[in-house]
Amino acid sequence: MTTGGTTSAKQRSRPQARQSPERRWHNDPRAERFSSEHPARRVVVGITGATGAIFGIRVLEQLGDLGVETHVCISHWGERNIEHETGRRASDVRALASAAYPAGDLAAIPSSGSFRTDGMVIAPCSMRTVAAIASGLSDNLITRCADVALKESRKLILMTRETPLNEIHLTNMLKLAQMGVTIMPPVPAFYNHPQTIDDVVDHIVGRALDQLGLDSPAVRRWSGELLRHRPLQTPVDQAR
Ligand SMILES: Cc1cc2nc3c(=O)[nH]c(=O)nc-3n(C[C@H](O)[C@H](O)[C@H](O)COP(=O)(O)O)c2cc1C
Repeated sequence: MTTGGTTSAKQRSRPQARQSPERRWHNDPRAERFSSEHPARRVVVGITGATGAIFGIRVLEQLGDLGVETHVCISHWGERNIEHETGRRASDVRALASAAYPAGDLAAIPSSGSFRTDGMVIAPCSMRTVAAIASGLSDNLITRCADVALKESRKLILMTRETPLNEIHLTNMLKLAQMGVTIMPPVPAFYNHPQTIDDVVDHIVGRALDQLGLDSPAVRRWSGELLRHRPLQTPVDQAR
């Protein structure tokens, strides 16, 4: 540790603490530069093991397109579902973010409220993670960051995914909603005439980013014009 740019001989001779594999992303030099500066927009992103890994990926991609600094943490089952559902490697998804941290690293930079952010999005958010947040269980970096967002009165957006919902799920979500958390299940809109699954996903993700005051070009906003007859065109229709 240095103060005022000087290092004593005793400090210089101190052996370096061994780095555990858990710390490797945290100590990425990319993360170092975030500790002292606060850009216009900085968002923490959690990806958990609910189905819909593509929502977390598009959150990272849309935030990146908007020039937002992103700090991502992916749970074990989030990683498994990314690979199962999208065929992408979890490492490629982590690379979409400005910095990435292992879920077990409770000492990572975003685990402290002193690291200022504009909020957190968890997409998709499993019922296990909802339950942990609602109970104040900071049992991994994702739930710890959610706890930090709550205690620091920052925006917390949960793209909760489960169906059907039991009373425990609903009670936990109600509890969080009453605390100011945005509960935003990834439910498709059809008024914007989506043509592809990407259209559906991008619109939902863009609407989640609306909650952070960000204006994603992926959102086809309601024009006020109610059509009388315009059947939905599916890819099968288009091929005809
Ligand atoms: C293919 C797959 C799909 C899943 N989908 C959901 C889901 O939609 N919602 C949910 O709450 N859990 C779902 N789960 C279960 C979670 O992965 C499991 O509860 C896990 O413990 C969540 O941990 P995490 O929140 O730390 O990622 C799914 C699991 C698998 C393997």
